[in-house]
Amino acid sequence: MNAPDRAGIRQASEIDMSSWWMPFTANRQFKASPRIISGARGMYYYTPDGREVVDASAGLWCVNAGHARQEIVDAVTAQLGTLDYAPGFNMGHPVAFEFASKLVEVTPPGFDKVFFTNSGSESVDTALKIALAYHRARGEGHRTRLIGRERGYHGVGFGGMAVGGIVSNRRMFANSLIPNCDHLPHTHDLARNAFSRGQPEHGVEFADELERLVALHGGDTIAAVIVEPVAGSAGVLVPPKGYLQRLRSICDKHGILLVFDEVITGFGRLGTPFASQYFGVEPDLFTTAKGITNGVVPLGAVFMKGAIHDALMTGPEPMIELFHGYTYSGHPVACAAGLATLEIYGREKLLTRGAGLEQEWADALHSLRDCPNVVDVRNLGIMGAIELAPKAGGAQPSRAYEAMVGTFEAGVLMRYTGDTLALSPPLILEREHIDRIVETIRKVLAGIA
Ligand SMILES: Cc1ncc(COP(=O)(O)O)c(C=O)c1O
Repeated sequence: MNAPDRAGIRQASEIDMSSWWMPFTANRQFKASPRIISGARGMYYYTPDGREVVDASAGLWCVNAGHARQEIVDAVTAQLGTLDYAPGFNMGHPVAFEFASKLVEVTPPGFDKVFFTNSGSESVDTALKIALAYHRARGEGHRTRLIGRERGYHGVGFGGMAVGGIVSNRRMFANSLIPNCDHLPHTHDLARNAFSRGQPEHGVEFADELERLVALHGGDTIAAVIVEPVAGSAGVLVPPKGYLQRLRSICDKHGILLVFDEVITGFGRLGTPFASQYFGVEPDLFTTAKGITNGVVPLGAVFMKGAIHDALMTGPEPMIELFHGYTYSGHPVACAAGLATLEIYGREKLLTRGAGLEQEWADALHSLRDCPNVVDVRNLGIMGAIELAPKAGGAQPSRAYEAMVGTFEAGVLMRYTGDTLALSPPLILEREHIDRIVETIRKVLAGIA
């Protein structure tokens, strides 16, 4: 693929940055020293001055098929010319129905109902609402408690924040979060599990904390437990062996719904289409977004077992079954992008391609274990993380931030969170990209005090 045309592209110094309040960004720090991306193709981003940067984070964990895929461009363009927008409330349009039907061909058996949203945050809030509505419809409206996990990230809606477990996302809104939420402990245990390849050996017992919450509140007050199968945004925290299985069996014992937040792990990130298949643990509902359209048009989706959907299809037929939805639920352009994305995933076998690369990816990442300040290397599927020692007294910016800036300047884009560098390249990656990513990190880490 050729680099994108740079005609007309403005350099960072020519851009007025005063108006856009950037999300999850230290705005003043960024604007004083910006990193601008102006083009993308395949495995690469391009800066306005023409530098090629390997995308080691699939954008924000979403561009699983790589950038600027022509089929998606064509599908979106054609859809815009046919039906640019149509309401989904009391009106239908072919592309949303077609996309829903195609999606449930790639989801695990039994997950044959889908509710469309526009983002991961909306998928999470939607899944929590469906869980509450399901219990109520079955005469168990006393199940109102929602359980998340420390260090979990479930987006920025009030529901997702309340079950989320990242302190900086919660602190400012602490008194306004939805009530009746509790948290399981996180499973990150550096002392016992540092440098684990794949799933760590220790920590299955962290799941037993759910029994403690049941003992405290009564299992029949708990509606749902929501976890990311692999916690992504908190720095790729891989579940210990047996942990998810145990959560599943405790939920079953007490009639609690288990929701997997697969916004990151969905659509091939672990080398299986969905994380539930990687772990062999079936949730009752799962959330998706990001990779569902290869990140190119915002769209999210909640998948559920037929029985959950059917429990709400019981009232009088003229009644709306769930008072919930978004203006853009099932947006035709997003669905067209999703259909083209699914075509690519299917043809190039991207939903399972990671399985063949997982060992190579793990070997390459773990070769960084002796670099300065590295306290952990973690991997699963085509996800990875390198955790660095915090600076004395927790001084900021963290070494991980410095490494993110350094690697970007050296031609590799990755995420950082706290003290951790997080990696999740597009699933089209080849050996040469793995080498380039790892060697760039090695060089940059060598220069960080
Ligand atoms: C597991 C998980 N859930 C929810 C979200 C929120 O998604 P969005 O930013 O699309 O609202 C994210 C975003 O990274 C995520 O990783």
